[in-house]
Amino acid sequence: MILSIESSCDDSSIAITEIKTKKLLFHKKISQELKHSKYGGVVPELAARLHAETLPKILQECKMFFPKLKAIGVTNEPGLSVSLVEGVMMAKALNIALDIPLIAVNHLKGHISSLFIEKDGIFPMITLLVSGGHTQVLKTKNFFEYQILATTLDDSFGESFDKVSKMLGLGYPGGPIVEEYAEKGDENRFNFTIPLYNSNRIAFSYSGLKNQVRLAIKSLNDLNQQDKYDICASFQKTAVDHLLHKLKNILKNYSHEVNLFSIVGGASANKYLRDKIFNLCKKFDLELKLADLKYCSDNAAMIGRYAIEAYTKQIFTPLEALEASPKIF
Ligand code: KG4
Ligand code: ZN
Repeated sequence: MILSIESSCDDSSIAITEIKTKKLLFHKKISQELKHSKYGGVVPELAARLHAETLPKILQECKMFFPKLKAIGVTNEPGLSVSLVEGVMMAKALNIALDIPLIAVNHLKGHISSLFIEKDGIFPMITLLVSGGHTQVLKTKNFFEYQILATTLDDSFGESFDKVSKMLGLGYPGGPIVEEYAEKGDENRFNFTIPLYNSNRIAFSYSGLKNQVRLAIKSLNDLNQQDKYDICASFQKTAVDHLLHKLKNILKNYSHEVNLFSIVGGASANKYLRDKIFNLCKKFDLELKLADLKYCSDNAAMIGRYAIEAYTKQIFTPLEALEASPKIF
């Protein structure tokens, strides 16, 4: 069995996965969302302190699996360094105490692996990764290798939902709240322009759209509930249209190389986005692959799924080489 740990942002999670069957034997996640909500975003120092409190509590619950463990998988990059270090320290302590190898797991590869929890992997595919830290389109060759086809120039897709939510005073994380508000709103009330629409650049940008929302809020002075619904709906439509517009260009070039398209990351839970991408995939004759809703946001099950692949190939990380690294690439 493999014990896996995820603590890259504001979710403390540990999983136990059986190597041979890929079965998830234990999975627990304690989210800190409510604790950060009043600040409108994640407060790194608070996140680190909460990981230090909760990770050992979850670990205690899986003590009975310790004799059967063959490796420890841990997210070591990218993310908030003070959060990552909590999981990495725990993994190192377990490596010393139990004398079993370490597997450093890149968080993005973890999200890709979320598609295959308790399942075999199917590749190649084009993957849209939409989370709080990333907006990327990847050509994914296998669990280990991918090519970045497009990335964001500034804010990420999920982050833009968080910021719109904060501007409207709706709390954190913004994604689910803005999506819920959007369902009650008129998506055509505000004519936000689609970012980079007239540019040939295959990239994403969300800071300008955020600014358009800010100006719309300012122009309204006193916002009533329907104004908020309409802003969320118009924003969500433009944010997704931007993805669709650039994805169309990417798929024109790459769709003949794959049969599958996937969406991963916390924001892949967005139903409006899922529906629009489903239709896009139909046009390009691609099958859409999605993770179960419970595995879209950060979790240790996806880290464990990746770790199985690394274990099978005997790819381990020596204790001295395991570092928590915030780097984004
Ligand atoms: O993958 P994740 O849990 O953490 C990171 O790796 O960043 O993604 C969290 C992000 C947050 O920005 C959150 O607002 C966004 O995903 N998110 C959503 C939705 N659910 C979560 N964004 C849009 N619509 C949603 N339904
Ligand atoms: Zn994530």
